[in-house]
Amino acid sequence: MSHATETHRSPAPHSALDADAVRAAYRRWAGVYDAVFGGISAWGRRRAVMEVNRLPGTKVLEVGVGTGLALPRYAPAKRITGIDLSAEMLDRARTRVQDQRLGNVDALLEMDAEQTGFPDACFDTAVAMFVASVVPHPRRLLAEMRRVVRPGGHILFVNHFAAERGPRWWAERTLAPASRALGWHPDFSVDALFSPEDRAQCTLTPVPPLGLFTLARLPN
Ligand SMILES: C[S@@+](CC[C@H](N)C(=O)[O-])C[C@H]1O[C@@H](n2cnc3c(N)ncnc32)[C@H](O)[C@@H]1O
Repeated sequence: MSHATETHRSPAPHSALDADAVRAAYRRWAGVYDAVFGGISAWGRRRAVMEVNRLPGTKVLEVGVGTGLALPRYAPAKRITGIDLSAEMLDRARTRVQDQRLGNVDALLEMDAEQTGFPDACFDTAVAMFVASVVPHPRRLLAEMRRVVRPGGHILFVNHFAAERGPRWWAERTLAPASRALGWHPDFSVDALFSPEDRAQCTLTPVPPLGLFTLARLPN
C-alpha cells in the first residue's frame, strides 16, 4: 500500500506535527527532557526493553532514540542502532554512550523514521518508545518499521494512547491544540497507528503508572 493511501486512510491527529515542528519542539526539550519525562516514562521504557531483550536476534533498531534513556538497558548481546530527527536529542544520547561506555550501540543517526536509509529486512527487532504520537504520520512509521525488520522479526511500541471516555478523555481533548508546543499528541488514538489488520495481530499490554502507557507488540 502506498504512503499516500496509508495517510489518506489513517484517522488524522487533531493538529499534525511536521518534521520541522518536531525538531523545534525537541530542540527546546533536549536540555530538560530526562528530568521532565524520564521519571514518568521509566516503567514503560524498562518493560519494552525487557521484551526486546527476550526476543530472538541481535540487531535492534531504536526509532526516536531521543536522549538514549533506554540504551543502558539493552542486553550486551544486542547490537543497537538508534535514529532520531533531533540533533540536540542525539547529542545527549552520544554523551550517554560515551559516559557509560555502551559498547553495543553501533550507531546513532540523524534520520527520519518514516523514511530511513536502511535496506529491507536488516533488523531483527524495531522498537519505538514514546514516539508514535510524535511522528507526523504514524502509519508511515509503522510501514517503514515493517520494511526494515525481517519477516518473522518483531515490532514494539510503548506509548500513551488516548482514553475513550471519562476525565482523562476530557483532559486529553483539552490539551490537543497544544500539540505543536508539547511535541506530541495527547489525544493520540490506537487507530491512528494500527489498521484493523494490524490491531488483530497486535498484543496490547498496559504498563504502569496507572495504565497510562501501553506496550504493543506485533510480529512482522
Ligand atoms: C517523546 S521523545 C521519546 C524519546 C525516547 N524514545 C525515550 O523513550 O525517551 C520522542 C522522540 O522522537 C523523535 N522523533 C519524532 N519524530 C521522528 C521521526 N519522524 N523520525 C525520527 N525521530 C523522530 C523526537 O525527536 C524525540 O527525540
